[in-house]
Amino acid sequence: MDFLRAGRVESSMDTAAKHDEMLDHDRVSARSPERALPRRGRQRALRPEPSVCLIGAACGLGAPGAYCAEAPARLRARLALSTSLRHAFVWRNMLSARAKPNGDDFPPHGLVPFCRRLARPVRECVASGTRFLVLGGDHSCAIGTWNGARVGLGRRGPLGLIWIDAHMDAHTPRTSPSGRVHGMPLACLLGFGDPLLVRLGERKGPCLLPQHVCLIGARSFEPDEEALLARLGVRVYRMDEVHCRGLAAVMAEAVGRVQSGTGGFGVTLDLDAVDPGEAPAVVTPATDGIGFDELRLSLRAAAAAPRFLGMEIAEFNPPMDSDERTAKLVEKLVETAAQVPRPASALELERHYLARNYEPLPVVLTRGKGVYVWDDVGHRYLDMMAAYSAVSFGHAHPRLVRALAVQARRLSMVSRAYYTDRLGPLAKRLCELTRTQRLLPMNTGVEAVETALKAARKWAYKVKGVPEGRAEIVVCDGNFHGRTIAVVGMSAEPQYRDGFGPFAPGFLQIPYGNAAALEAAITDCTAAFLVEPIQGEGGMVVPPEGYLAACAAVCRRHNVLLICDEVQTGLGRTGRLLACEHENVVPDGILLGKALGGGLLPVSAFLTSEEVMNVFTPGDHGSTFGGNPLGCAVALEALNLLEEEQLVERAARLGDYLLQRLRELRGPLVRAVRGKGLFTGIELDTSVVSARRVCETMLRYGILTKDTHDTVLRFAPPLVIRRAQLDDALERIGRALNDVRPLR
Ligand SMILES: Cc1ncc(COP(=O)(O)O)c(C=O)c1O
Repeated sequence: MDFLRAGRVESSMDTAAKHDEMLDHDRVSARSPERALPRRGRQRALRPEPSVCLIGAACGLGAPGAYCAEAPARLRARLALSTSLRHAFVWRNMLSARAKPNGDDFPPHGLVPFCRRLARPVRECVASGTRFLVLGGDHSCAIGTWNGARVGLGRRGPLGLIWIDAHMDAHTPRTSPSGRVHGMPLACLLGFGDPLLVRLGERKGPCLLPQHVCLIGARSFEPDEEALLARLGVRVYRMDEVHCRGLAAVMAEAVGRVQSGTGGFGVTLDLDAVDPGEAPAVVTPATDGIGFDELRLSLRAAAAAPRFLGMEIAEFNPPMDSDERTAKLVEKLVETAAQVPRPASALELERHYLARNYEPLPVVLTRGKGVYVWDDVGHRYLDMMAAYSAVSFGHAHPRLVRALAVQARRLSMVSRAYYTDRLGPLAKRLCELTRTQRLLPMNTGVEAVETALKAARKWAYKVKGVPEGRAEIVVCDGNFHGRTIAVVGMSAEPQYRDGFGPFAPGFLQIPYGNAAALEAAITDCTAAFLVEPIQGEGGMVVPPEGYLAACAAVCRRHNVLLICDEVQTGLGRTGRLLACEHENVVPDGILLGKALGGGLLPVSAFLTSEEVMNVFTPGDHGSTFGGNPLGCAVALEALNLLEEEQLVERAARLGDYLLQRLRELRGPLVRAVRGKGLFTGIELDTSVVSARRVCETMLRYGILTKDTHDTVLRFAPPLVIRRAQLDDALERIGRALNDVRPLR
């Protein structure tokens, strides 16, 4: 059905008007300005498609005095004059209801059929993916609007609803002091209240589910209402909480909630939520309300969410609006709903201007705190990726941010042409922690790897006595050490190498997890064995127990350097400071990166013995940024945190728990679960589903993860994660896995 054709108003439903007391009196008339819009073919060329369908719900049956029934007509006249908005929307319906002159029945005569009729266009909008805006009327119209939206979602999932209101609207006929239905619609939608109105909701499928409803701005209500909502588990953000946290934060959280596990969500706004100083023309004003500008900004963010379906504005009372102050505010709200910023723009910029060397998941992240990140529309995610272990301390850890800021004000960058007061202390600390003697600071992980390769070769020539140009370095199948030409040259992954040759010679690959293969590969020219204690990018592969210790023994026997790449596994990630400690191995060389920079800066290091490091002489190697005081200050504070917050022990404890709980996950998708500490992964059965699809489903459940090699999902949260947060993550992961639709 084409709702967007300007001037066209619904057809089949017109006939339904006859049998009740309502009339569709005023489906946009031939004289109305909207009628003058050209037909669709021409319209396309002339002006943009309207983005919102307006539905007038001119019903005041639930409220005292019923004056707000005049609201839609008043607003329509006003909006028709708005040049900026005229083409942003199209009037879909103008429904109205009339009470019997002396009707004193309950619910008020005509309300039930009115709500049914209102539900219909809303349902059709939602089903066709058109955003709608219902202009009430008193708030009893919400019963029709949200039942329509609920049914329109069909199999897409249940409805989420943000209810913004000074009152709770959770009365039942028994608890309402006034007996007015406009104080009851939320209770009705949740399945409580007058059976006639509730039955309206039960017609297709269950009522609105309390866990998908957030109520914002409540400040005037009866204890019965509060008790009912608390018992049901509706999240109520009372006005004092809104004042304390700010509406933007509350709304962002609410949007996250109502999007989680639902097919879409809407917002219903009782104008009495706005402070009466700004919006006085409402039916039942309540003091100390939400500021209008704050409301508008928050609604704009909510309306930009991908699963936003539509909005309802109720309880505007025109007879009280002699100066049109409140009508102006409503007009601005319509504008907000009709001209939402396009959430895709940041994503599109990246897609347009960036190299296509990554394929990010479709989410635009804008801020992070602790284990959470938020997207550009306020949806919160639990970060189970932690930027490939770079964010082990969580996002924006206050101590790290402070260390960064303090050092940035003191001294940030001078190059290694000079000494600084930060690099020495960091080197001492790291050497002591890792039982090594010397450090060479770099920035990214791969630079540390390159440094180690250069050191190993030079050591082989200068110390071991390997003939010039013949040094060999043994690496493993499935390795990942970064992306420079030398490093991809020693990778077994065809895609990493494809098109980038010729590569440096002198590397030999052996199977991972097999110490005998190492021994067999070693020759007199072997300088070093470079290995990850657990392969992360290779698919979260944990080698057999005793492997690393056996490799260390082989290396010792043959005077070969054992270099452990702990860029990802180091600094507590696997439940030990270094993953090689699980086997009591002290390597000849250690590579650190990622977490060393506290998630704020790239800081990496190659650590080794004096004998090996002494092969470097001034000018042999270096980096402008390596060892800069800013990075050192952050790294030092990161090491302090690791110790003081006992993050290594926490990773061991919570890691065991995570692994055990992941292993309990059942289902056709899960092939294997593996890992150590907070460094775990699930291998998926990719004949059933692609890893990408699972990651996208996880996103919908508020979990940030990413696959490696299209088969393994990694779950490696910040080490600061708390048990309750991990439980929450596990619950979401389980639900997401159950919800993934298999490949056809
Ligand atoms: C084990 C290992 N080494 C080295 C690197 C490269 O680090 P960077 O991306 O900082 O260069 C990575 C990156 O994922 C890694 O996992």
